[in-house]
Amino acid sequence: MNVGGNPYLPVRARIEKIIQETSSPELDVKTYRLKITGGGVMEFMPGQFVEFSIPGTGECPFGFSSSPLNRDYFEITIKRTGRVTDMIHSLKEGDFVWIRGPFGNTFPLEKMEGGGILFIAGGLGLAPLRPLILYVLDGANRAKYGKIEMLLAARTARDHCFTYEYDDWAGNGGANIRLTIDNSERGWDGLVGFPHVLLRDIPLDFGNFHAVLCGPPMMIKAVRGVLAELGMPSDRLYTTLEMRMTCGVGKCGKCNIGCRYVCVDGPVFSMEELADMPPEY
Ligand SMILES: Cc1cc2nc3c(=O)[nH]c(=O)nc-3n(C[C@H](O)[C@H](O)[C@H](O)COP(=O)(O)OP(=O)(O)OC[C@H]3O[C@@H](n4cnc5c(N)ncnc54)[C@H](O)[C@@H]3O)c2cc1C
Ligand code: FES
Repeated sequence: MNVGGNPYLPVRARIEKIIQETSSPELDVKTYRLKITGGGVMEFMPGQFVEFSIPGTGECPFGFSSSPLNRDYFEITIKRTGRVTDMIHSLKEGDFVWIRGPFGNTFPLEKMEGGGILFIAGGLGLAPLRPLILYVLDGANRAKYGKIEMLLAARTARDHCFTYEYDDWAGNGGANIRLTIDNSERGWDGLVGFPHVLLRDIPLDFGNFHAVLCGPPMMIKAVRGVLAELGMPSDRLYTTLEMRMTCGVGKCGKCNIGCRYVCVDGPVFSMEELADMPPEY
């Protein structure tokens, strides 16, 4: 159900808090904690996204990055990359923005029950996976899922997002977190190397896991190939796509891949589904 009822009409939200996620000059990422004004609650599930607008500047799609179980606020994590995101990054706590949504499908939470989940993220790719991570690690849901394994990659140590939460994910949630960067750096004691290479050293029974993958297209392509070699079935491997979008509700035709609209049939797809779609993503 869209917040406010009409999917074309944005509602106003207040920026409650801004968290600077990365400190590298090449990757400027901030998390915006938002609250709908007038008491509305944003109800969403992991994988969904919103259309986020600033009047006079423009509107962009962004995935949720906070827990869907939190009804007090929701969070969106945004990389500064162009006209609209530059303007968003200039906003301050207490400023107002406009939101439509939630839109899109969700990760298959019930299908994933009973087995482990392997999360593989590259850079900001962790943002759309965080709602799913927080959902499965929550005390009310944790027993439904098996081992939670993570391989989180970033170009440099300063490009990892949500670092302030890793202790909780590992401690209370029991997640096994592996952090990697592309090249060694002074003071870094995690792994060094690309996820598709490091994957081969993780002793998992890949056939008994679901895997969720998000990051740059090159990373997805490489990881997907290695996971297939290691025995991960394509109907247990999911990713989330970012196509150009306008309406968000399957009407404008901007986001289609073949006969599928990413805004309503996605953004979450299994690799089995993607294999039947033209390689336009
Ligand atoms: C479902 C969905 C979820 C998304 N989630 C996030 C998120 O959680 N965090 C985040 O930072 N970004 C996310 N994006 C991408 C985000 O929408 C774009 O970065 C944003 O629209 C860029 O707007 P701009 O005006 O600042 O950039 P522009 O000036 O329009 O473009 C700057 C650069 O960004 C590229 N770009 C623009 N739009 C997109 C797009 N939709 N997908 C990929 N590249 C694009 C352009 O090709 C160009 O290279 C998501 C996109 C989709 C479709
Ligand atoms: S964004 Fe309009 S159809 Fe998908």
